Amino acid sequence: MKAVCITPKVPHTACLSELPVPPIDEVPGGRGLLVQVLQVGVDGTDRELYEGEYGAAPEGYDFLIIGHESFGKVVEVGPNVTGLAPGDYVVATVRRPGDSIYDQIGTYDMTTDDTYYERGINLLHGFLAEYYVEEPEYLVKVPTGLKHVGVLLEPMSVIEKGIEQAYEIQRRLKVWRPRRAAVMGSGTIGLLAALGLRLCGLEVTSFARTPKPNLNASLVEDIEARYLSTREISVGEAAERYGPFDLIFEATGYSPLVFEAAHALAKNGVLILSSITGGDRRAEVESDRLNLEFVLGNKVMVGTVNAHRGYFERGIADFARAEATWPGWLSRLLTHPIRGLENYEEMFRALAEARDAIKVYVVVSEEQYHDNL
Ligand code: BGC
Ligand code: ZN
Repeated sequence: MKAVCITPKVPHTACLSELPVPPIDEVPGGRGLLVQVLQVGVDGTDRELYEGEYGAAPEGYDFLIIGHESFGKVVEVGPNVTGLAPGDYVVATVRRPGDSIYDQIGTYDMTTDDTYYERGINLLHGFLAEYYVEEPEYLVKVPTGLKHVGVLLEPMSVIEKGIEQAYEIQRRLKVWRPRRAAVMGSGTIGLLAALGLRLCGLEVTSFARTPKPNLNASLVEDIEARYLSTREISVGEAAERYGPFDLIFEATGYSPLVFEAAHALAKNGVLILSSITGGDRRAEVESDRLNLEFVLGNKVMVGTVNAHRGYFERGIADFARAEATWPGWLSRLLTHPIRGLENYEEMFRALAEARDAIKVYVVVSEEQYHDNL
């Protein structure tokens, strides 16, 4: 089978390899499933892997199959698989359990291990290939009616986790009744966060750099949220006019904004941080003021990464609600299809250069591409 591979930590090494289809008994006990990959989304993580910033090959290999935002179809099941059958559409979770107590109870996204295993990212092969093998625990079934947006489920799972964690934390307040939320960033994660928060019934203000009109702005406005360009209004001013914000979801990838967001947070508010910032940027902050506001205002700042299968399942439920409330909205995020694994160079180019791209994704099986038209 064809697969897109990199040599981890060496920049610009991507290539198309011919590899054997993984055997279904890679998973012991007759519990393996062979999944045909239909679509794979790519994001900043793939770009950073390509740039050699991080990533690791699985034990015994000197290359890594990348791709962690999968969507596929079950083609073969082992004799002891229950709950999934050939023909089912599935999305695979990304992280696999390590040793910490959090891993042991199924919350591997909360691992305290220093070494973590993530398919397509660290120590495990990913999904930018024609097939992969997995066990049922890590496969989430996508209803046929949502198959056209299945490839967006992994990014959505990350948002579901962030929001659920925030509500879980806020149970400390006994009567928390959030009304206004802000989202920093309007890329895929920012847009899906705005969607998730609108589905929670919150008034949402999204901050992005580019002034409207643009596609991201209309997507925000089409779910009855507010789009503001930070070139036209500062976060502080906007918070005075449209805030204070009970919940803020940060997804810009630009760490100095975290502190601006912290200032814009309401008393008793919660700030969710989701940007992976691998660089070494520094920023000067008004530390006394920030500290004081958090102390006197009982505020919370929380980081969130990855997602376990429960959050993928929440994502499915929210996608169904989104399709019912704003039909076709999710599909509009799928801006840049790349046809075929062999066009992986075009994929990396689109990731790096297509300024109007929301989601770049590879259509691994051509048949599925026509399905989507
Ligand atoms: C993925 C997460 C992963 C994180 C860190 C993100 O791009 O969506 O699942 O945990 O990268 O590796
Ligand atoms: Zn990702």
